Amino acid sequence: MTTDRPITGADLAHERSDAAAQATDGPTVIPVALVDAPYPVVVGRDLPEVLTAIDLPAGAATALVVTQEPVVAAGHVDLVETALRDAGLTVHRHLVRDGEVAKDADTLAQLWQVCADVPLTRGDLVVAVGGGVVGDLAGFLAATWNRGVAVLQVPTTLLAQVDAAIGGKTGINLGGGKNLVGAFHQPIAVACAVDTLATLSPRIRTEGLGEVVKCGLIADPGILDLLETCAADVLAGDPELLQELVVRSAQVKAAVVAADEREGGIRAHLNLGHTYGHAVESLTGYSEVLHGEAVAIGTVVALRIGQRLGCTPDDLVERADALLARLGLPTRGPALDREQVWSVIGRDKKVTRDGVRWVLLEGLAMPTVQAVDRADVDAVLDDLLA
Ligand code: GLY
Repeated sequence: MTTDRPITGADLAHERSDAAAQATDGPTVIPVALVDAPYPVVVGRDLPEVLTAIDLPAGAATALVVTQEPVVAAGHVDLVETALRDAGLTVHRHLVRDGEVAKDADTLAQLWQVCADVPLTRGDLVVAVGGGVVGDLAGFLAATWNRGVAVLQVPTTLLAQVDAAIGGKTGINLGGGKNLVGAFHQPIAVACAVDTLATLSPRIRTEGLGEVVKCGLIADPGILDLLETCAADVLAGDPELLQELVVRSAQVKAAVVAADEREGGIRAHLNLGHTYGHAVESLTGYSEVLHGEAVAIGTVVALRIGQRLGCTPDDLVERADALLARLGLPTRGPALDREQVWSVIGRDKKVTRDGVRWVLLEGLAMPTVQAVDRADVDAVLDDLLA
């Protein structure tokens, strides 16, 4: 189903109170209510608890776990593999390189060969254990191997738990751009254990808050209230607060994806902060500025554009700016060559025939998508970088 109606706080209210009740009391199950292939996002404290709540495909005999060395070193992969073996599966593990470099065609070709060697058959399972890179790569492997096999997403970063692992976007990068080759391939489930976040560096955990703030701004003001009230405890990694933030953000994402799986309408709202954010990431080599940090910078740009156009209220711009800064996220980007910025924005696959369409806010939880004149964007960037 595709709809242009924004997801409202009322849509989420009843789910939210259930979530708050469950956040301290076992895993919370958030349905991604797709008509063809509904699946759960299970959010809990530790991996064994969360994985117990997930039904594996009845016919699966073999699981190929795709992961990276730091995720193994943190102990997460052993826990996942034990749960898979306890469920009767034969488990194979394949490590890919750390970082965005792993999302390339060579790595994907190696993974296809691993699937052939295992062998992984039509009824079997790919299991992605790690952050967004692993989720996107293993998800695309699952989308393409044997014309599509099941994938279980086990995200172990905050960014992946609240955004990347939910919604079925999978893909790899080309020299010319990020995620240019990809497919929609929904997982059978998403298993989020907030204990895995304790093993992240503070910077990696904090970058995930860029996407959490985005969810608050586009659909759930309660997220912003929680972050404002408890910023220090969230930054210190309080697991109950993190669990509630993951639950609430996953509810926003699940509701949007269920309403517009293929981004024909409101799924674009999830791109708040991403238009300029992608340019920042791309022009700084995908390592100097992390994705969630770039989203924070891009969110400030989008809100300022809305303010300039008389669309976004001043107090909302100031509130978001202050919250992002309080969370330790950057609110101003590095100085970038403006022609290069426009060249990257122009190549973004979200650009339509009508030009660059920006996600703006008409108010809190009131996203809108609008074409904006380049002169207005340039004026905002000049002002922010002055
Ligand atoms: N990360 C944005 C989306 O999944 O649509």
